[in-house]
Amino acid sequence: MSNRGSFSGRLGFILAAAGSAVGLGNIWRFPYLAGQNGGAAFLLIYLICVFALCFPVMVGEIAIGRNAQTDAYGSYKKLGGGKWGYLGLFGILAGIFILSFYNVVAGWAFGYFLEISFGDLLNQTNYGQYFGNYVNDISDNFWFSLGFMVFTALIVSQGVQKGIEMANKIMMPALYIILLGLIVYSLTLPNAIEGVKFYLIPDLSEIKTQTIFDGLRQAFFSLSLGMGALITYGSYVSKNQNIVSSAAVISIADSSVAFLAGLMVFPMVAAINAYDVQGPSLVFVVLTEVFHNMGPIAGRIVGGSFFLLLCFAALTSTVSLLEVPAAYLVDQKKLPRKTVVWGLALLIFVLGLPSMLSQGMIPFLNKLSFYKERDFLSFVSDMCDISLTVGGGLMCIFIRNRWKIANMNNELAIGNPTYFGSLLKKYIDFAIMWLCPIILGILSILIIIDKFWGIEKIFG
Ligand code: PFF
Repeated sequence: MSNRGSFSGRLGFILAAAGSAVGLGNIWRFPYLAGQNGGAAFLLIYLICVFALCFPVMVGEIAIGRNAQTDAYGSYKKLGGGKWGYLGLFGILAGIFILSFYNVVAGWAFGYFLEISFGDLLNQTNYGQYFGNYVNDISDNFWFSLGFMVFTALIVSQGVQKGIEMANKIMMPALYIILLGLIVYSLTLPNAIEGVKFYLIPDLSEIKTQTIFDGLRQAFFSLSLGMGALITYGSYVSKNQNIVSSAAVISIADSSVAFLAGLMVFPMVAAINAYDVQGPSLVFVVLTEVFHNMGPIAGRIVGGSFFLLLCFAALTSTVSLLEVPAAYLVDQKKLPRKTVVWGLALLIFVLGLPSMLSQGMIPFLNKLSFYKERDFLSFVSDMCDISLTVGGGLMCIFIRNRWKIANMNNELAIGNPTYFGSLLKKYIDFAIMWLCPIILGILSILIIIDKFWGIEKIFG
C-alpha cells in the first residue's frame, strides 16, 4: 500500500479535510438556508447537529479509513466482508452526483469572479435579474464549469501530497483572511445591527420541522460526511495521529466558516434591505450589490477577491469529491491515476449538464412534475443530501453490528493513549451505538417523505 500516497503530517491532513468540508456549502448554501429558516434558530440547530451527531460520525469514518488503508468501497469490504462493500459504492455514487451539480454552482462563482474582475458586472442596476439571466446563459456556464472541472482534475491527478495537500495549505488561510475582512466591512454598514440580531438572537418559535431537516442535511453536507470522503482521506493518515482531536479541529474549522459567512451576509442583507432575496441566489445577489455600492475600484478588488476565494473553497471540496471515486478505481481496479481522474472528470461534467440546463433553459428540467415543480439541480442536490444522512446512519450500524465498536476504539487509541479513560469516548460510543443510528434513521425517512409529499401538512 505504500504507493497510495499519504498526507505529510497532521497539518496536511487537517487542512485537506477542512478544505473538503469548507466550500460552497458554507458560504453559498448555509446563509440562504439560515435565511429561509429563521436565522439564529437555524444556526442553533445546525451547531447542535454538527457537534452532537456529525462529530462522532466523522470520527467513525476516519477510523474506518485509517484502519483499512484503502478507498471507501475497499474499506467497508475489508472490515465488514460480504455485501458491506456496497455501502462504500453507494457513497462513491453519491459523491459523483454531488460533484455533478456542485461543479455547476462552482462554475457560476468562477464566472462571477471573472465578470467582476474583468467584465462589467459592477455596472448593473438589478442584481437579481442579472443572476437569473446569468444562470440561463448556456455558453458562459458551459465553459466556466468545464474550466472548473479541469482545475479539479489537474490537482487530483497530481496525487495526495503534491496536489491535494499543497492546494489546501495555500487556499484555506487566504479564505479566513478575506472573510474576516468582509465581516468588519459589513458590520460598519448602516442598519447592520438588524442583520446581526436576526442571525444571533434565536427566536425558538422559529424552529419548525423544516428547520431541523435543513439543519441536519446541511451539517452532513458541510462536513463532507456520509459518502466516504473522510474514509478515503482517513486512509492517507498516519498511525501516530490523534483522530479524535483532528476531527474536532475539522468540525470547528468548518462550522466557524459557516458561522462567519452568516455574519458577513446578514448585516449586508439588512443594509441594502434585501430581505426578499431568498434561496440559491442570495450570496450572488446581495454581495454583488454591496460590491457595486463600494465603487468601481474597491468593488472590483474586494468583490474579485471574494469570488476568487469562493472558487478556492469550492475547489478544495471538488478535489475531495473527485478523489473518492478516483481512489476506488486506483485501489480496486489498479488503473493509472491520471487516466482515472480525467475519465471521471469528463463523465461527471456530462452528468452535470442537466443541472446546468435546469435553471430555465429547458422548461421540463426547470419544473419537474414529479418533484413539486422544482428544478433538476435541486432534485439532484436533495437526493444527494438524503443519501448522506442515510450513509451516515448506515456507517454507524456498520461499526455497531459488524466491525464492532471495540475495534473502532482500538483504532482511535492509536495516537491518543488516554482515549480509553476519556469522557469523549463514552459519548462517541453512545452516539455511534444509539443516538446517531436512531436519529439519522428516523430523520432520513421523514426527510424523504417531506421531499416528495411535504410533511408540513402533518407536523406544521
Ligand atoms: N463540504 C462541502 C461543502 O460544504 O461545500 C461539500 C462536500 C464536499 C460534500 C465533499 C461532500 C463531500 F464529500
